[in-house]
Amino acid sequence: MGTNFKDEVLSRRTFAIISHPDAGKTTLTEKLLLFGGAIRDAGTVKGKKTGKYATSDWMEIEKQRGISVTSSVMQFDYNGSRVNILDTPGHQDFSEDTYRTLTAVDSAVMIIDSAKGIEEQTLKLFKVCRMRGIPIFTFINKLDRQGRTPLELLAELEEVMEIESYPMNWPIGMGKEFLGIYDRFNKRIEQFRVDEESRFISLNEDGEIEGDHKLKDSGLYDQTLEEIMLLNEAGNEFSVDKVKNGELTPVFFGSALTNFGVQTFLESYLQFAPPPQSRNSTVGKIDPLSEAFSGFIFKIQANMNPAHRDRIAFLRICSGRFERGMSVNIPRIGKQIKLAQSTQFMADDRSTVDEAVSGDIIGIYDTGTYQIGDTLTSGKDNFQFDRLPQFTPELFVKVYAKNVMKQKHFHKGIQQLVQEGAIQLYKTVKTEDLLLGAVGQLQFEVFEHRMKNEYNTEVIMERIGSKIVRWVEGDEVNENLSSARSLLVHDRFDKKVFLFENDFALRWFQEKNPDVKLYNPMDSE
Ligand code: G4P
Repeated sequence: MGTNFKDEVLSRRTFAIISHPDAGKTTLTEKLLLFGGAIRDAGTVKGKKTGKYATSDWMEIEKQRGISVTSSVMQFDYNGSRVNILDTPGHQDFSEDTYRTLTAVDSAVMIIDSAKGIEEQTLKLFKVCRMRGIPIFTFINKLDRQGRTPLELLAELEEVMEIESYPMNWPIGMGKEFLGIYDRFNKRIEQFRVDEESRFISLNEDGEIEGDHKLKDSGLYDQTLEEIMLLNEAGNEFSVDKVKNGELTPVFFGSALTNFGVQTFLESYLQFAPPPQSRNSTVGKIDPLSEAFSGFIFKIQANMNPAHRDRIAFLRICSGRFERGMSVNIPRIGKQIKLAQSTQFMADDRSTVDEAVSGDIIGIYDTGTYQIGDTLTSGKDNFQFDRLPQFTPELFVKVYAKNVMKQKHFHKGIQQLVQEGAIQLYKTVKTEDLLLGAVGQLQFEVFEHRMKNEYNTEVIMERIGSKIVRWVEGDEVNENLSSARSLLVHDRFDKKVFLFENDFALRWFQEKNPDVKLYNPMDSE
């Protein structure tokens, strides 16, 4: 093991961006990659207009839709840190993979559109981060446009997300009158659209500009000072420990499009974001600095092109060093396997990785060996990491084989795709109908496509729409409580689950049946 192993691991910062579509995830990612020198031109991460597909050319479906399906990984070096950004697909591409990606990171960056505030998808992803207790950094974007007031945005953040916030900087004006940011943390003002040489103005001990400056002539300066005073007196105190535990989010204001506030954000992020963290396993916590290799699979990307059956399993390295050609153990099946072909996803190319350490993500070719959640260990180590959490599905379809003569293929296909984690399977208690559950529509499309191409089975999927899903505590329940509005089903581990038609049906059921205790695994982890 190289002497620098420890330093290498401690230099890793692995995060995902959580946001609602259009908040500016692609724009911010691009700016970060430009700082890191990983790409040369803006517009290479996701060529919505140019038709360039930088992150991955893997899936046909990706090309057809013109958006990235892959939770790909982008890597760059900055000021001695090695940064891994994991993409979290959203919108029509929202799937359990998006959630699972969050199990492979050590922190998250949340982007909020200053005009829209907290949106649905951001909140869903936030909850998963919260469940894991990982640090969350907030970037409030699009300050070059008129948006909601910063105080209003912070109040919403604290109220809806129930997290403390600490603004690291504060906007001076907004939209057409956006003059820059008051950087509380670095004690300086960064001016918007001002040359590099005179962009920063340092502040005196009282947090004010010393002497004359044209910025002082604007009423916005005085207003900002008042707001800063208010924050100093009535706002939260900054606490590194609270940031680490995910109890307080440092908030940055900026404009990704105009590349304003991004570098300041990146530098503060790198200072406070944690290096790779230890992970629970059947033999206790596994230290990322321990030299024996281990990792887990958090995602499997199947190729949608029938000419290429290859798949990629995404592995998060949790300890030790990965070396190409090394043999690893898969405790679930008690089998040794040689990791000969491995791929690392880069912003503008897919390149082969020869070495990676704790915190890094690698893609390994898979011919059907891996399942999501699999632990890989080195040598004879036989432990397994904690199971990945179960994510509550929201959309359901009833599924049949189109051709009744193909039942065998149909069941084999479903069983394998469910085990792999592509989709969730449920069975109604009374009629034993098969239902598929997903968190996003894309999962059904991928399922249908793969059943046809890999298992030669056409399926019929009957939409039954969105449901509110609650598991039954203790598993004891009268099956006669099942109705169209509160359908009782079994999950694949034979646990009893109710699918409620809507919020109203859930509340009504709870009032009528106070003895039946229901829970949502995404609230209680
Ligand atoms: P996403 O990945 O989160 O979906 O968002 P993306 O970065 O694609 O940004 C969505 C839209 O918001 C884009 O405009 C982008 O240019 C714009 N945007 C991002 N950051 C800022 C910002 O700081 N200020 C302003 N004013 N706009 C910003 P679009 O017209 O929808 O897309 P495009 O045609 O420019 O690709």
